[in-house]
Amino acid sequence: MTTYNLALIGFGGVNRALAELIRDKPRRFASLGFELRVVAITDLAFGSLVQGDGIDLAAVLAMPRGSSFDGLPGGSSDPRNEDVIKNSPADIVVEATFTSPIDGEPAVSHVRWAIESGKHVVTTNKGPVALKGIELSKLAAGNGVRFEYEGAVMSGTPVIRLAHKMLGGLDVTAVQGILNGTSNYVLGRMEAGLGLDEAIAEAQDLGYAEADPTADIGGSDVRLKVAILANELLGATIDPGDVATTGIQDITSEDVAAALANGLHWKLVGEARRETDGRVVATVQPLALAADHPLAGISGATNAVSFSTDLLGPVTVSGPGAGRVETAYALISDIMAVNEFAKGAVRA
Ligand code: HSE
Repeated sequence: MTTYNLALIGFGGVNRALAELIRDKPRRFASLGFELRVVAITDLAFGSLVQGDGIDLAAVLAMPRGSSFDGLPGGSSDPRNEDVIKNSPADIVVEATFTSPIDGEPAVSHVRWAIESGKHVVTTNKGPVALKGIELSKLAAGNGVRFEYEGAVMSGTPVIRLAHKMLGGLDVTAVQGILNGTSNYVLGRMEAGLGLDEAIAEAQDLGYAEADPTADIGGSDVRLKVAILANELLGATIDPGDVATTGIQDITSEDVAAALANGLHWKLVGEARRETDGRVVATVQPLALAADHPLAGISGATNAVSFSTDLLGPVTVSGPGAGRVETAYALISDIMAVNEFAKGAVRA
């Protein structure tokens, strides 16, 4: 049985959920031939903790917010991210700090330090993938390690790996998706008669929307995800800034009612399409979709991606696009990919 040592960078919702999954069912992965041991945790609030024999997850998960790792063996009130990432005895760095849509930092540096010190990286963080994904993937390949990021799009619902593993031999010419749960929930509630602001407030109460829902409603969250899909699945080299983006902020109750009367459903659609000249064009915009469109029936906070393929036509996958446990599962699927690589099943 192989044991992978993990360093958790960021100890907010997603990495805490991963720690809970490991604490609650430590032998969950035994059938896959590996076990997971957390040897380092860093966090802006808690500081850092490095224990090469394995951290007592039940104990650290019981620590109240506002406490510090300072005083524990191997603990410090300072996150010491660079030192921990480079020098802790981790095999895999699990990056789940906040997303910067501007420069991807500090996550980009975290990923770089890990790869350059010979550690695999798994992340749910859209920032480094959307802004520096191509460069970081090359760096990982050059260093003989994996850089895996299934959860950057649609949390644990398989999209990136599904396309790579299950759509082989098909010509995928476009991807279209509902990639933001909040905006989809809001549009659905507007169909039920709520106003935009009222629907946003409800999404915030339910925990779908960010405290500042601008990125959800204005389309910039989807823009990052579309850039990732375009580069990953259509071989593009675009930046999020290349994605023409319009959010749903100007969609009115009247627009929604008028569409509904004609059998149409407004959706915030992220799309990347390869044109006949080979260029990849990416957009985020509200579209009124006919009922028979593969994305028209995706309701609530659910996400979906529809791949346009030459031999199968549209292939659509739907599932959760957010949530602590759902996103932590993406990290587990990434660790499984690292394990396959380590066992020699796939090449860098
Ligand atoms: N706020 C996002 C959403 C979370 O509503 O989909 C996932 O990026």
